[in-house]
Amino acid sequence: MADALNILSICGSLRKASFNGALQRALPSLAPPGIKIMPAPSWADIPMYNADIQAGGFPAPVTTWADAIRAADGVVIVSPEYNWTIPGGLKNAIDWTSRMKDDPFKGKSVALQSCAGCLLGGARMQYHLRQSLTSVEAVMLIRPEVFVNFSARKFDEKTLELTDQATKDMVKLQLEAFEKFVRKQTGKN
Ligand SMILES: Cc1cc2nc3c(=O)[nH]c(=O)nc-3n(C[C@H](O)[C@H](O)[C@H](O)COP(=O)(O)O)c2cc1C
Repeated sequence: MADALNILSICGSLRKASFNGALQRALPSLAPPGIKIMPAPSWADIPMYNADIQAGGFPAPVTTWADAIRAADGVVIVSPEYNWTIPGGLKNAIDWTSRMKDDPFKGKSVALQSCAGCLLGGARMQYHLRQSLTSVEAVMLIRPEVFVNFSARKFDEKTLELTDQATKDMVKLQLEAFEKFVRKQTGKN
């Protein structure tokens, strides 16, 4: 039996009742046995990117976040769409790590998922995130794609547990494909 892969999950929303956070919490139960999914340290305390701050050294929340990404075999990003694109805080965190000599995203396998209130399910955010992460040489899983639209209908109103079977099936399929993709990229068979 092959060793389990360590996969990091990153959420693009900071809100307590976040649907993306709820999906992130559901990932371990939907993952195949060959992958272990752990949440990343929060990017909430990463300051706005400023080269003058960088000149004095990378802030601790940036290095903590980057170290966790570096240590993982792959990353799943679960994020909302803000104004048709990537939430500013998440993009800011990626901008910080992109200035590191050993950019943690370089060569890292990444899969994307999004929950949104509208019909498109965060598709525009995913295309922008795919573009941005490609610029830092992350290796992006192309499909299956995971777009959770009308997200309030897919989670329990009180507990935020993921209840929609079609969404669970879609996420399972992606995680199975992601395991194969990461094993190919990392050579961990
Ligand atoms: C600043 C802001 C901008 C938003 N822009 C979009 C958008 O462009 N497309 C969309 O589908 N939803 C948009 N929404 C709605 C989010 O999809 C919805 O609030 C979602 O639940 C946020 O994710 P979360 O539940 O994980 O916090 C926006 C919400 C906020 C707060």
